[in-house]
Amino acid sequence: MSKKKEIRFGAIIQGVGAHVGLWRHPDLRVDASVSLAFYKSQAQVAEAGKFDLVFIADGLYITDQSIPHFLNRFEPITILSALAAVTSRIGVVGTLSTTYSEPFNVARQFASLDHISGGRAGWNVVTSPLEGSARNFGKPHPSHSERYRMAEEYVEVVRGLWDSWEDDAFVRDKETGVFIDKSKLHLLNHEGEFFSVQGPLNIARSRQGHPVVFQAGSSETGRDLAAKTADAILTEHENIEKAKAFYSDVKARAKAYGRSADEIKIMHGIGVIVGRTQEEAERKREEIAKLVTIEAALDHLGRFFEHHDFSQYPLDEPFPDLGDLGSNSFKGTTDRIKRIAAERKLTLRQVAHHAVMPPGEFVGTPEYIADLIQRWHEEGAADGFMIQSVTPTSLEEFVEWVVPILQERGIYRTEYEADTLRGNLGLPIPANRYTIQTTGARS
Ligand SMILES: Cc1cc2nc3c(=O)[nH]c(=O)nc-3n(C[C@H](O)[C@H](O)[C@H](O)COP(=O)(O)O)c2cc1C
Repeated sequence: MSKKKEIRFGAIIQGVGAHVGLWRHPDLRVDASVSLAFYKSQAQVAEAGKFDLVFIADGLYITDQSIPHFLNRFEPITILSALAAVTSRIGVVGTLSTTYSEPFNVARQFASLDHISGGRAGWNVVTSPLEGSARNFGKPHPSHSERYRMAEEYVEVVRGLWDSWEDDAFVRDKETGVFIDKSKLHLLNHEGEFFSVQGPLNIARSRQGHPVVFQAGSSETGRDLAAKTADAILTEHENIEKAKAFYSDVKARAKAYGRSADEIKIMHGIGVIVGRTQEEAERKREEIAKLVTIEAALDHLGRFFEHHDFSQYPLDEPFPDLGDLGSNSFKGTTDRIKRIAAERKLTLRQVAHHAVMPPGEFVGTPEYIADLIQRWHEEGAADGFMIQSVTPTSLEEFVEWVVPILQERGIYRTEYEADTLRGNLGLPIPANRYTIQTTGARS
């Protein structure tokens, strides 16, 4: 239908929350991070709101200073498999690191999830920013640029493995006893800088061809990887101008790689707080802010900067000069924090409080939030939005109050268009590379 229909939504399900203090909220169950019942109910609420996907983030290293949700959380593929079984239309997308895993295993895991969910799986490719991750895998932490070179080769290998079987390779003829057409089974025989993988993969393609590939880095190299290889990119920016600049930059990079701008969806992460009145929304935000002590806020800030100890600096003086610190880990985020601190001349206390709240301005009445979403979408700042629960009831309120307004305006679906994630996101099914190459000349 018209371009107006095309807003997408994803729900980031995050147990006791992305917010350091949310676990203290009286309305949140303290065991939410490892509660199947909680994840199931959130996924079903998102599906009732016709969201494109639920998303499970991940990391591979914690210390006793990590945020509460990170300390005790589900492994993404495992919980997504369970969620696939209790939903029928919504996409199931999770993070898996290319730095600390093997492409053969990961290709299998996501292909399996894709079959289990009937073509609704998605893989968020990250390179694991935290240096400490290396300590859990017995090898050194590669540099930012090396991690991204690995990731590029890794995604190529995984996509190649996913094409091991042409779609009509499984003959399964009980009469003749022919199970497969051997000419439609392909070895990858990949020998690259980082990986050596023969193949084939021991699982066929699903109804959507390949799981949808997401990428979540915002640095130059992250954007480039996404523009070259990903179907969608997850990002977040503090205002519409920055989001628009990012949006046009990534779309231009994709075009430079010979892709169409529509082939890569840009999903913007927003923390939403809805109130029946603006005052009620502000009151909810203040309630959340009060749950965080300054010590917890400093710890949280330190996490982005390789667990730097910010308690050594005076709180009410300008944000300290940290040099290059943080540029080998969460580069996109640390660059943004440093820039905002300098531009707005913020003190350390202000930066710490700012860093614990999700960026953006999506706090207000349902109409206000619907207006903002419409504006961001229409002005080319985002193809869709990843809704992060900032209060225990954010997602329910968004679905109950904001979604109907967008539907009434005719800019958001009232029914799913498809039953695969690619179908709903408007992404094409990738042709099998071997089918294209060998048509008419298969030996
Ligand atoms: C909505 C959203 C979800 C993300 N999820 C993850 C995640 O699950 N794991 C992770 O390591 N990074 C995740 N990131 C990305 C990190 O914030 C970080 O930018 C990235 O890993 C470092 O890459 P960069 O240096 O290219 O920015 C996410 C980002 C966004 C905007």
